[in-house]
Amino acid sequence: MNILILGSGGREHSLAWAVKQNPKCDHLICAPGNAGMAQIANCMPLDINNGRDVVAFCGEHNIDFCIIGPEAPLAAGVADDLRAANILTFGPSAQAAQLEASKAFTKEICDASGAPTADYAHFKDAKAARAYIIQQGAPIVVKADGLAAGKGVIVAMTVQEALAAVDDMFDGSFGEAGAEVVIEEFMTGEEASFFVLSDGTSILPIGTAQDHKRAYDGDEGPNTGGMGAYSPAPVLTETVQAKALAEIVQPTIDEMAKRGTPYEGVLYAGFMIKDGQPRLVEYNARFGDPECQVLMMRLGAQALDVLIACAEHRLADAKINWADDHALTVVLAAKGYPNAYKKNTQINGLRAISQNSKAQIFHAGTALSNDKILATGGRVLNVTARGESLAAARAAAYDLIDQIDWSEGFYRTDIGWRAL
Ligand code: AMP
Ligand code: GLY
Repeated sequence: MNILILGSGGREHSLAWAVKQNPKCDHLICAPGNAGMAQIANCMPLDINNGRDVVAFCGEHNIDFCIIGPEAPLAAGVADDLRAANILTFGPSAQAAQLEASKAFTKEICDASGAPTADYAHFKDAKAARAYIIQQGAPIVVKADGLAAGKGVIVAMTVQEALAAVDDMFDGSFGEAGAEVVIEEFMTGEEASFFVLSDGTSILPIGTAQDHKRAYDGDEGPNTGGMGAYSPAPVLTETVQAKALAEIVQPTIDEMAKRGTPYEGVLYAGFMIKDGQPRLVEYNARFGDPECQVLMMRLGAQALDVLIACAEHRLADAKINWADDHALTVVLAAKGYPNAYKKNTQINGLRAISQNSKAQIFHAGTALSNDKILATGGRVLNVTARGESLAAARAAAYDLIDQIDWSEGFYRTDIGWRAL
């Protein structure tokens, strides 16, 4: 098969790494890719948010299967364009990707399917939203309806903070994403993520994970895209997973099918778990980044088989051979991230590090220049290891980090603390 992966982050590098190991993969192209992906695939420039361009590219390069990594091309309908051109595709339609692109839509689906989630109200103007906050009191959660690059959620501990968030959103600080606002009950408990493939009707769980959103140790500092992750997440026990599938995930998939907008792709469900009861925090229509890195580390080559089974509507018969193992990834970011940081600083020592099925450095914001690896983004490397226990995986990941020579980078030293 000729396979195309769209995207250029650590998520896509880990997908490329897993796909490449499967003998079904004859030729792998990544667009646009990064310096790490360039070591295992052919990286080519492409406007991945333009469906016409992506379809034309697939024609030129005889692509048999296209895997869409990030949310932007999904929301832009690239999967719809690919399917209309009869190209086998992994990734939901724009309609189905509304589960990520609109918080109000997700709430409506929860209502229709009876899935447990935070109580909420939905507003199109500031006056009514302010009155609701004053009536409900704090803590309370204010969310911009649309895609806001992970910044559209304000967990307000005081009424003042919540009112300020509402004013900001309706003043246009979040652009179109803030034209509508969802205000939610503040939920307490432990957060974890569950990843499930759906072919429109059947589902296949492909792992659990926990992320670390804050920039610094001890969950301090500003919110980021994620500074590290591990899989499995102990709080998502077999019993909690079964409950989550029966009460939340399958009813969502059924409701989407009933509406004529079947969900086909990976559904990333974020849960708040308290006393063994999961409630939905949010859905994403893609793999998490860096959660994908730990899932791929555990799945290896069989990831391609299940992604194809998903795209071909054969999930009812698909199976995963789980090893009784753990994976952990630590993100190396440029000093200053998630705020301003230096670009094009040189990373040394990477080539000398031996990598194998239990230790991989997935690249995110890197580029190759005159044979040197440069850091070009905020999150730069995902140092990932697998072990018989979480503690072993963590020790191996930090051991790899010690071998990297990059004075402009920083990382958290406590990834996995909650589970350990
Ligand atoms: P979201 O983008 O919806 O995942 O929200 C980002 C983060 O805000 C989540 O990972 C939670 O930590 C927090 N959050 C969102 N909604 C709630 C809620 N209703 N109660 C408590 N925390 C929440
Ligand atoms: N790591 C969080 C996300 O991918 O949304």
